[in-house]
Amino acid sequence: MDRYVVIGNPVAHSRSPLIHSRFAAQMRETIDYDRLFVPLGAFDEHALRFFAAGGRGANVTLPFKVDAYRFAHARSDRARAAGAANLLAAREDGVFADNTDGAGLVADLVRNLGIAIAGRRVLMVGAGGAARGVLAPLLAERPALLAIANRTPARALDLATRFASAGPVEAIGFDAVSDAFDLVVNATSSSTLGENLILPEGAIAAGTCVYDMAYGEAANAFLDQAREHGARVSDGLGMLVEQAAESWLVWRGTRPQTAAVLAELRAA
Ligand code: ATR
Repeated sequence: MDRYVVIGNPVAHSRSPLIHSRFAAQMRETIDYDRLFVPLGAFDEHALRFFAAGGRGANVTLPFKVDAYRFAHARSDRARAAGAANLLAAREDGVFADNTDGAGLVADLVRNLGIAIAGRRVLMVGAGGAARGVLAPLLAERPALLAIANRTPARALDLATRFASAGPVEAIGFDAVSDAFDLVVNATSSSTLGENLILPEGAIAAGTCVYDMAYGEAANAFLDQAREHGARVSDGLGMLVEQAAESWLVWRGTRPQTAAVLAELRAA
């Protein structure tokens, strides 16, 4: 049986095994998909052992996405742009690293939520690894502007410079927002850290779509704040399911339907 794992620390909470078991049932394929807890600093050792034992692929979550990128023998363009990998796949010539986070975000926004990105003004809040991981796929949708605002402005500037050739991206100060955005994406770790996020004044108005890449309880504080401004809000549960479907596509060549799995997770 083809073996897959999700590697993380912590990883006990991961919903990936459930999502992939639903995909397997839908595709009438049999796979073995487990959680693999890896101690900090021990990624290479555990990944080597998994692939040496015939493992077919791994999803990689915090805090190992950069380790996974470095570990691989070959990398996709989107993993290179992200500088990180959420997916490893066994190939004949070695381990291949890819990143399906951005494709998952775009699929959730555009297909599931019906939010247009093309021609729209988009604000990314945050300039860490999560933001970098999704910038190229967002820019590929051809927004009119992709602004990046970050608590530490130098990091936003660094990201904007790095992606300048991929589209209309610019760093903005939290105090420099005059017009509301069509779409605001929270890519900071404030939700997961349980901290308050100060938003650029004026960024959100009635009609703005606000998306938190975190999901469930973690996203609530930020999304409640956005709702008070009249925004239409969504957490990142759909992104989680869509990045998994994109992972399945990379591993197995077909893309599962996601609606039923997403509905099941929402209901739970
Ligand atoms: P990740 O890989 O999750 O993106 P990271 O690279 O440590 O983690 O980046 C965390 C991001 O969340 C950064 O943009 C960080 O802002 P700074 O660059 O100023 O540190 C942002 N962040 C975390 N907590 C925040 C808070 N309470 N308010 C605003 N931004 C926050």
